Amino acid sequence: MPIAAVQEERLSRRKNDAAFPLLAIEWCLDHAGIGPEALDAVVFYERPMLKFDRILTSALRAFPRSWRAFPQAMRNSLGDKVWVRGLISSYLGLPRRKILFTEHHQSHAAAAFLTSPTQRAAILTTDGVGEWATTSVGLGERRPNGAASITLLREIRFPHSLGLLYSTFTAYLGFAVNEGEYKVMGLASYGRPTLVNEVRRLIRRTADGAFCLDLEYFEFHTTTRRSYSSRFVDLFGRPRSPYEPIDLESAEGRRFADCAASVQQVLEETLVEIARALHQETGLPDLCMGGGVALNGVANSRILADSGFERLFIPPAPGDAGCALGAALYADRIHFKNPDCLVPDHSFWGPAVDGSALVKLAQEDHQPCDELDDSELIARTAGDLIAGRIVGWMEGALEFGPRALGHRSIFAAPHSSEMRDRLNRDIKYREEFRPFAPVVPIEVADRYFELPPGGARLARFMSGVFPVRPEWRARLAAITHVDGTARVQTLEQSMAPRLHALLESYGRRSGIPVLLNTSFNLAGEPIVNRAVEGYSTFRRSGIDVLVADRTRVAKRASSATQKEKITCSKSAAG
Ligand SMILES: [Fe+2]
Repeated sequence: MPIAAVQEERLSRRKNDAAFPLLAIEWCLDHAGIGPEALDAVVFYERPMLKFDRILTSALRAFPRSWRAFPQAMRNSLGDKVWVRGLISSYLGLPRRKILFTEHHQSHAAAAFLTSPTQRAAILTTDGVGEWATTSVGLGERRPNGAASITLLREIRFPHSLGLLYSTFTAYLGFAVNEGEYKVMGLASYGRPTLVNEVRRLIRRTADGAFCLDLEYFEFHTTTRRSYSSRFVDLFGRPRSPYEPIDLESAEGRRFADCAASVQQVLEETLVEIARALHQETGLPDLCMGGGVALNGVANSRILADSGFERLFIPPAPGDAGCALGAALYADRIHFKNPDCLVPDHSFWGPAVDGSALVKLAQEDHQPCDELDDSELIARTAGDLIAGRIVGWMEGALEFGPRALGHRSIFAAPHSSEMRDRLNRDIKYREEFRPFAPVVPIEVADRYFELPPGGARLARFMSGVFPVRPEWRARLAAITHVDGTARVQTLEQSMAPRLHALLESYGRRSGIPVLLNTSFNLAGEPIVNRAVEGYSTFRRSGIDVLVADRTRVAKRASSATQKEKITCSKSAAG
């Protein structure tokens, strides 16, 4: 059973921190109350020598074009990872035999299947690249005696990669690769897939059901400088500079949106065809999906609708961060053959927030704060939201994975487009075309959103995008995307009871139990972890109210009274 999981970036406060995760290891061991000597094994989520083999082979194939790029490619892709066994061994003082390795796509597959409440499922993992594999299909099975197995049947290998195809367009459209893929998906809704035939020239389906890229259009396999070739630019036109605003009223802006819509459509078509063939081959109703491409909620919903699978399971961390959990589960269930048991169906595996730390921070900063009991806290927060205040909400254990699912979230009323614009302008500092997501109690989700069979499950961790029912769109303007959809989170009470109560309380007063839910961070920063990060974000942004556990701090309307000495009041019931 998992005990703890946390991403290094949340502790080091460096977004996408690729350093050796000493802080994360230290916190997990502390949380478990053990030292490294008590570990049976440390599992690394990919095989560095295979990755080295891929980088070296690719460089040799592209020689002499690639010889300048090779050292950089080594540094970018591997860093210290080739020597990882020695590193882990020396950092943790463990014998080298205790350091185990899983393959990258095995880790993705394990993170998808071994965390899902299903006995038998097909598995599809898709990402940029690990060692060699970029797409794998397979089967997962739990037997009644507790034995679990994961069999990967086939794989598609680098440089033929759906993730890298999408990332190439991400770079072409001027966004940061590995971060900006969300933006491409958001921008796609504003465009029309007018360039779909051009994109199809880049990727061809093969007779065996796989696909291959036409490498004439790409350079990611030969250089680290640019992922697309001049032929790509001949086909699609001038790339967008990262500093150039996207003006959707202009012809150039529309061309970029059309590019995004076209690559999104080809991605969806390709994934649906692979998934459909896998469904026909296995005859199973359930599909578990992993890899960074499984973060594409629009594609996931298409797969649910069109592949024949009845249920899709996508873990809260399908990307590479989740590989750590997958690798550990793989070693436990399959290498050590420990009996399988279902993993709790949530993402709250990180450090818990300390409300008393917020009390201290607020007092030192002369800000008024209240310590409230649950019912008063819920009622006050619902009132704040009704009054149009933006609430930073920290509760319990930090989420593992990129999505804030109610423990480190910013909430706001979802009704007006002004609220969306205010959040973009005063808090998230981001492009106007990026939508915000709603959260709704699962039992009433269907009233507001068109959820197909299996849709509520896909929406558990915000992994799908579904239409907002037309009659509610005007009243849910802040979370309804330009195409009428939303990346909804359907909340079961047992997963986050306090948030569920907040939604009910807000719903009783506003008539609609739906809140806008966006991750609690500013642009370019990792999601907040401790009260101090929540407080600093609150002070630096347009957040009006901050809640950490049972402590509430509100910004005062005027700074004239700032110098008054503030004490923290406790509610009578609290
Ligand atoms: Fe990956």
